[in-house]
Amino acid sequence: MIKVTHLSKIYKMDGVQTVALSDINFEIDKGEYVAIMGPSGSGKSTLMHMLGALDTPTSGKYILDGQEVGNLSDDELAEIRNKKIGFVFQAFNLLPRTSALKNVILPLSYASYPKENREKRATELLTMVGLGDRLHHNSNQLSGGQQQRVAIARALAMDPALLLADEPTGNLATSQSEEIMTIFSDLNKKGHTIIMITHEPLIAKFAKRIITVRDGKIIKDEKNGKHLKIKV
Ligand SMILES: Nc1ncnc2c1ncn2[C@@H]1O[C@H](COP(=O)(O)OP(=O)(O)OP(=O)(O)O)[C@@H](O)[C@H]1O
Ligand SMILES: [Mg+2]
Repeated sequence: MIKVTHLSKIYKMDGVQTVALSDINFEIDKGEYVAIMGPSGSGKSTLMHMLGALDTPTSGKYILDGQEVGNLSDDELAEIRNKKIGFVFQAFNLLPRTSALKNVILPLSYASYPKENREKRATELLTMVGLGDRLHHNSNQLSGGQQQRVAIARALAMDPALLLADEPTGNLATSQSEEIMTIFSDLNKKGHTIIMITHEPLIAKFAKRIITVRDGKIIKDEKNGKHLKIKV
């Protein structure tokens, strides 16, 4: 599903260059559940932005479902994000003073999902994440774990093949983190490919593959406890 070859990302700011990703190579198959770990500043979020078509690499190739993402226009990138990718961030990024239901309906209306079916779809998703009784609560009237579950329902609105999550449990208490991990494991069983950044080893254990990044490079790639070869 994902093929990354010689991918580099260099940020230029005030004449200073930061090499955030340096010549990275890997593949992720459809249906995998991958955790990305590594120290602060190692390039994890940068990698997530590339995989999520939110930004393009400085050099190298990113192929998603056979399509090279680096060559696409902004409109084409937006279409890929809408159709194929769901995002969950550490800070839930919900609209404030807006109900759970409306937060989930929003991406459906962007994607011109049939108007008469939007509320039904959003209700089903919120019910799936255990919030069927919180549809009309506003974001600020929900707990952190509940807000993150709304964010997951929103990310799943268009049934994306790929779910990307950057520290999805970073702001949550342990019991809430476990709820989110249960949802992720269920989604993965249903066939969604999941890539999740975390700095918590206990959270990473829920994934079947753990990629470790340091200084913009992959230094370890373990799948089901076995070390995979790192391509250079
Ligand atoms: N937009 C940007 N402009 C300039 N430099 C950036 C930008 N975004 C990230 N960087 C730099 O690139 C490097 C990698 O950042 P990145 O956000 O990918 O790290 P991270 O692994 O996600 O860290 P954390 O665990 O703290 O979230 C850092 O040195 C950071 O300062
Ligand atoms: Mg980060």
